[in-house]
Amino acid sequence: MCGIVGYIGKQKASAIILEGLKRLEYRGYDSAGIAIQKNGRFEVAKKAGRVEGLIKSTPALKISGTSGIGHTRWATHGGVTDANAHTHLSSDGKFALIHNGIIENYAGIKKFLLTKGYTFQSETDTEVLCNLIAYHYQKEPATTEGSRFLECVRKTLRHIEGAYGIAVMCSDCPAEIVSARKGSPLILGVGDNEYMLASDVAAIISRTQNVVYLKDGEILHLTARDFSISTLEAEDVSPVIDRVTWSIEDTDLNGSAHFMEKEIFEQPAALENTMRGRFAEDGSTANFGGLNISPVDFRQIDRFHFLACGSAWHACLVAEHLIERFARVPVEVDYSSEFRYRNTPLGKNALFFVVSQSGETIDTLAAMREAKRKGYMVLAVNNVVGSTIARESAGGIYQHVGPEIGVASTKAFTSQLLVGAMLALYIGRMRDMSFSDGVEYVNALKGVPDIVRRTLEQAPHIREIAKRYAHYHDFLFLGRLSLFPVALEGALKLKEVSYIHAEGYPAAEMKHGPIALISENCPSVFLVPSGEMFTKVVSSMQEIKARKGRIIAIATEGCELPEGVADEVISIPACHEAVLPIVATIPMQLLSYYIAVELKRDVDKPRNLAKSVTVE
Ligand code: M6R
Repeated sequence: MCGIVGYIGKQKASAIILEGLKRLEYRGYDSAGIAIQKNGRFEVAKKAGRVEGLIKSTPALKISGTSGIGHTRWATHGGVTDANAHTHLSSDGKFALIHNGIIENYAGIKKFLLTKGYTFQSETDTEVLCNLIAYHYQKEPATTEGSRFLECVRKTLRHIEGAYGIAVMCSDCPAEIVSARKGSPLILGVGDNEYMLASDVAAIISRTQNVVYLKDGEILHLTARDFSISTLEAEDVSPVIDRVTWSIEDTDLNGSAHFMEKEIFEQPAALENTMRGRFAEDGSTANFGGLNISPVDFRQIDRFHFLACGSAWHACLVAEHLIERFARVPVEVDYSSEFRYRNTPLGKNALFFVVSQSGETIDTLAAMREAKRKGYMVLAVNNVVGSTIARESAGGIYQHVGPEIGVASTKAFTSQLLVGAMLALYIGRMRDMSFSDGVEYVNALKGVPDIVRRTLEQAPHIREIAKRYAHYHDFLFLGRLSLFPVALEGALKLKEVSYIHAEGYPAAEMKHGPIALISENCPSVFLVPSGEMFTKVVSSMQEIKARKGRIIAIATEGCELPEGVADEVISIPACHEAVLPIVATIPMQLLSYYIAVELKRDVDKPRNLAKSVTVE
């Protein structure tokens, strides 16, 4: 939540920072602000609303300083107002600061600072930070050794409880930025005679692919000529410069109307990338290079725990189904936010997987730390290379689907489903799954990109259905077994991007309550696979029809649905059981997307949401 950017170099900073902010808007888009430093003074512009609004309304942005900081906000403390937008200045005007995170002990610090005469212009927790830095700075004697500015930030942060990614400028130090992180992401881009700091690679990728991922508790000191990293305890850190493999084109719309559309249609290629190089030579199982646990030790695991939030949690529920079905090993799935505070009895030989597209979701990060604290090995399924979760895990599986910019997860979700299916195969083949069943399973997975491509051909048909159904206010999404979590995901997708109320349920469970919602005004989306569940699901459909409910059926090709039981049918290709959840997801993504477009929603930046939830 919230995106931060900083620039120091030889170019005009404002244009570069604003470009970076636009690329970080998916992290929060309530308000935006920028501060440029020139000749020892700050030019600040900030405004409620999008970055574009800030650009249009603020002549101050034409200023030509070569260092500055910028912020795009997802409000926590204080409403969406110009005053609460960042950058914040200390009351003596000496410090300008941006912040991503939550300062938990801000109230006590504010009380203290008020007694010292400091004043506050906003309702934010952030403003205490710059005033506390100003307080320490004013107390600290001027010194020629080290940077007084840097040391005062360090001293301030030692008093801070909570999470932060910050960047600070000091009017006495015109060509310096100090930045730090704890719990919120922060990266440094090392460019040609310039440096950029940001919450995420997307903000800097147009200028450099050389990146340093900062760790929690590290402080970055930037000047126009060089940079240094140290810890809160003032120990020097040797930086490791990584090379980002994706490029600026990956973060552009490239002709699509929205990132959500682009990312839905990228799925065949994205899924191909998730699988690449991950099958054993004999073609009967999966291979994961980064698990960092030997097959022998992995074989000893008798219970898997999966932790995640949102769509990733739905992916875990599908993984649970597939692992228990194909490998016969018990799996527990928890919301990360619940696991942290529950005292779940855990077995001796348990292994944890945390699943997170961004690798920065604070609840999942905290749950992971809790599992580690209890002595368990934690592996990560994660898309963003170098994320905090990736770095703090003992190993894991990168999804390799490229940047996902749309707030609603699409390609990252199906990739997580695929990783879950591959894990079920890997664990299954260590146990009872035969060689020939393994080969059949692998061949089915290899066919996923093609089968997804064929499913995407339904887009024009689904668009027409979306036009007919966009005016409804309530939807039910119903599926069974591995398609129940897919129904949950369908309901979440519709809610997120169209603001239409939707609920996901196991199809048979519907008659235990939700059926009370059914009328001609509440359509149901049924996931109807061929096979043993077909007749059961059709019975549930009949129960809805008997109550005048409209039905959109997403049904396997060739299934003979009884006459009149569905008002709309979207066909999906017949496929292996492990592949079915992926294929069944595609029409629901398209349905949600087209309904949102029909309703003229802000598809990529739905209200109240942010891509990466870095506050509890
Ligand atoms: O980055 P993560 O996978 O940890 O994110 C988890 C959820 O916040 C995320 O899946 C959220 O539910 C999406 N907006 C779903 O579309």
